[in-house]
Amino acid sequence: MTVRVPGKVNLQISVGPLRADGYHELVNVFHAVSLYDEVSAAPSDRVRVRVSGEGADQVPLDEDNLAGRAARLLADRTGHPARVALEIRKAIPVAGGMAGGSADAAAALVACDALWGTDLSAGELHALAAELGSDVPFALMGGTAVGRGRGEDLVPVTARGTFHWVFALAPGGLSTAAVYAECDLLRRHEAVPEPAASDALMAALAAGDAKALGAALANDLQPASLALRPQLAKVLRAGEDFGALGGIVSGSGPTCAFLAESGRHAEELALALSDAGVCRAAVRATGPVPGAVIV
Ligand code: C5P
Repeated sequence: MTVRVPGKVNLQISVGPLRADGYHELVNVFHAVSLYDEVSAAPSDRVRVRVSGEGADQVPLDEDNLAGRAARLLADRTGHPARVALEIRKAIPVAGGMAGGSADAAAALVACDALWGTDLSAGELHALAAELGSDVPFALMGGTAVGRGRGEDLVPVTARGTFHWVFALAPGGLSTAAVYAECDLLRRHEAVPEPAASDALMAALAAGDAKALGAALANDLQPASLALRPQLAKVLRAGEDFGALGGIVSGSGPTCAFLAESGRHAEELALALSDAGVCRAAVRATGPVPGAVIV
């Protein structure tokens, strides 16, 4: 049983006040892009996890592996024995701000549910996904969606056409929790308003207007990611210099996302970013794409 699952970029992250449970109230516009991990599930004597591909050596294989936790959670809730060998093939950068770990967890839920014949409804899968992490439900759903609450409360957004992206991959990752903590630190003397969706962004998506979308990209976590990884300022500047319609830190970073005018422009932009030596690699992808699917 093999499931293909996309990574995501956040077109907008509006970070509201810190809640009592340690999470932040968000308005989070998720956009699934054609950078995919694959998760295969096969019968085994217990939960085993193997990882290959992009950044595989940085993925934990122990109890912390989110795909393994997904399998154990599904087993626990359905009463099915927790026995599966998960094989994860990675293309989504690890700890890169593209929700790769969350994607693998979503894929593991779908793959185990099919392998074990536990046959959960979409709503039941969503609830388990939300327990695993804030970004896991969106990886099930894909497309473009607004996440509220801590990000798990999802409503699909109408987006016209296809957008062309270039992702500048950084060496090493950033911890999401550390970036949120830095964001709190940077804003400690400010009154933090409730998060709000950007009307300009929604209009750009509905119209399929890449230029307007590029101008509307916004990430409240970006100053924190830049504070923890100052080199990212150079990456963002390079993207701008090479004519990106917009550039942004993806999620909590350190991957930077650039919007291009066309597939051709994305190709040129990726080459220019690679040649400039500001990133480990520059990869192209399009969005929106569907969420986790059995292949
Ligand atoms: O839910 P998830 O495990 O993906 O979140 C990772 C970390 O990111 C949390 O422990 C928390 O520090 C931070 N976070 C947050 N507010 C959110 C989502 C995540 O502070 N809405």
